[in-house]
Amino acid sequence: MAVTRIIAFAFVLAVCVGINAAPNGRILEGNDVATGELPWVVSVRVDNAHVAVGNIIEASHILTSGHGLSALRSIAIAASSVTVRAGSINQYAGGQIVKVQSITIHPSFGNFLHDIAIITLQQPLTFSSKIAAIALATDEVNDALVEETEVSLAGWGLQLSGATPYKLQVATFKVLSSHECEYQAGYGYDSVLCLEHGVNRGIATGDEGAGVVVNNTLVGVASFYFGGGGTKFPDVSSRVSYYSSWIASTIAAQSEA
Ligand SMILES: *[C@@H]1O[C@H](CO)[C@@H](O)[C@H](O)[C@H]1NC(C)=O
Repeated sequence: MAVTRIIAFAFVLAVCVGINAAPNGRILEGNDVATGELPWVVSVRVDNAHVAVGNIIEASHILTSGHGLSALRSIAIAASSVTVRAGSINQYAGGQIVKVQSITIHPSFGNFLHDIAIITLQQPLTFSSKIAAIALATDEVNDALVEETEVSLAGWGLQLSGATPYKLQVATFKVLSSHECEYQAGYGYDSVLCLEHGVNRGIATGDEGAGVVVNNTLVGVASFYFGGGGTKFPDVSSRVSYYSSWIASTIAAQSEA
């Protein structure tokens, strides 16, 4: 077990290097998403460049990952530099660009854990066939996420070729039990949902924040990958049900603000 932890630690260091170096991750074997197929998916943009995928959970609230929006640990970058493109499968065009009111990163974010954030929009989105909210996983749904459960994840992350897709890509993954994730990667935390994928598949730079979805329910939010992505190691997401009360209290606080 100690050896596993040391190996896992070495790979986490590799991830740190990967994030600072030129992006070289890849989402592989993804398929194009059709317009309106995943209407809760948005592109989160900083200075109009895509940094993360977001998930509409209420008309004014987007659930995403923290690290693309972090200035220093849980302190977010200025909301004025962030926008969201909703209602388009094309990250460069279409849909609507909405300004951001505030960003709340989980207070315990750091060291690759609690990588989850809520964006509050200046104006609520108008729901349509292309823009809709996704339901959050309850404890009951979470309990059904047994090993090998098939889940899907969609993002605009880099592809194997190194190209950035303009069209949203979707791929399927399998849930890895916490016990197996601890054994394979040292990430058996309750707050984490690990995703198994084949070599040369998996999430990549630009897929952070992507919703992990089963039965049209949001069960995870993509956080990070080991090495350059597409390794034999599982990808790591934040487990949505673990954050139910933080999500509810953050939304309530931001709605009052
Ligand atoms: C998804 O729906 C199927 C069919 O209703 C059900 O058997 C399964 O447990 C659900 N999975 C989750 C994770 O809720």
